[in-house]
Amino acid sequence: MSAVITCIEDLRRLAQRRVPRMFYDYADAGSWTESTYRANEADFQALKLRQRVAVNLENRSVAASLVGQPVRMPVALAPTGLTGMQHADGEMLAARAAERFGVPFTLSTMSICSIEDVRSATEKPFWFQLYVMKDRAFVEALIDRAKAAQCSALVLTLDLQILGQRHKDLKNGLSSPPKPTLANLINLATKPRWCWGLARTPRRGFGNIVGHAKGVSNTTSLASWTAEQFDPALNWGDVEWIKKRWGGKLILKGILDEEDARLAVASGADALIVSNHGGRQLDGAESSIAVLPRIVQAVGRDIEVHVDGGIRSGQDVLKAWALGARGTYIGRAFLYGLGAMGEAGVTRCLEIIERELDLTMAFCGKTRLADVDRGVLAAHALPAWAQAPGA
Ligand SMILES: Cc1cc2nc3c(=O)[nH]c(=O)nc-3n(C[C@H](O)[C@H](O)[C@H](O)COP(=O)(O)O)c2cc1C
Repeated sequence: MSAVITCIEDLRRLAQRRVPRMFYDYADAGSWTESTYRANEADFQALKLRQRVAVNLENRSVAASLVGQPVRMPVALAPTGLTGMQHADGEMLAARAAERFGVPFTLSTMSICSIEDVRSATEKPFWFQLYVMKDRAFVEALIDRAKAAQCSALVLTLDLQILGQRHKDLKNGLSSPPKPTLANLINLATKPRWCWGLARTPRRGFGNIVGHAKGVSNTTSLASWTAEQFDPALNWGDVEWIKKRWGGKLILKGILDEEDARLAVASGADALIVSNHGGRQLDGAESSIAVLPRIVQAVGRDIEVHVDGGIRSGQDVLKAWALGARGTYIGRAFLYGLGAMGEAGVTRCLEIIERELDLTMAFCGKTRLADVDRGVLAAHALPAWAQAPGA
């Protein structure tokens, strides 16, 4: 690769060339018309920043903390399923990049590398994301495995009791590993680097599930198992027993409504993530950055409010912070880095975002995130949803 990587878009383009189409499409897609997926990014761009000058910009820092854990910047890697299909051993590589950089990595329940694989690849605690299945014994065992691996936070996803439809996944016949159809073989033939990586790793199925859940010994039986197993009956009562069983830091993911945010506070969770699952569930829902100000207004004093969806730059991280988020997550941004260049690509993604965040904060005349509030946004150019609630 001769091109110099300077932004997340460069990583996306490279990933698109290197990752088999079905897995690239799996990442770069939203549900149905993808209107919420697009709005997540577009609404960040609608926020304008306020440039200040002649401020002493020495000794800057973007360090922060997330649920009490110090971080190099307030950005975590979001849980993403099938990450080991963007690049061989993807979860282990991304976790290591995040650990070395100094931000949390969140392992998805639907990962390719298992909790134990990621534990073996890292030295410091990572976070674990939980999907709730009907088989409660399996869920309890997952929680216990995350505890045994010393995971330092549990991210409980509440917005995927049922699965949104992504047209491309159906058309591509998404499966892990890919089925040897003619279309897949032709596409795979153009991705030698990816094939070589996958040929050398044993990790090609759902590592947290195969061999752990009853009746699942291979990936062929897995597709039907997953469709049947996500629990449509998940409710706040379940949050209570999960919190008790886990006993550590709990983060509730997928909150998009003030009423739900209040219920999240009542549940005793340590943080909530304002999220529409990256536009992959309810198409037609508002962007997460547009919902953030109302949720911060409703519960920001009672719980740590985080946000994800559409973050592709350090400017986006600063804008989210300015509107009251005390943590952000990147999904696709790090997946593009991983698909493009493996561990080095995730590190590059984090470096790009950190540098953009630091410089953007400085151009706005600030040297520490603690001093950043909505005053860094151009007030006269604020979209209606970003106006101070109640103002
Ligand atoms: C390919 C992909 C897989 C995902 N898998 C999961 C998952 O397994 N669990 C989960 O809670 N969220 C999952 N998400 C949602 C992300 O955690 C996060 O909410 C979203 O990616 C944020 O938006 P962004 O990609 O625009 O940064 C997934 C997202 C993507 C793009």
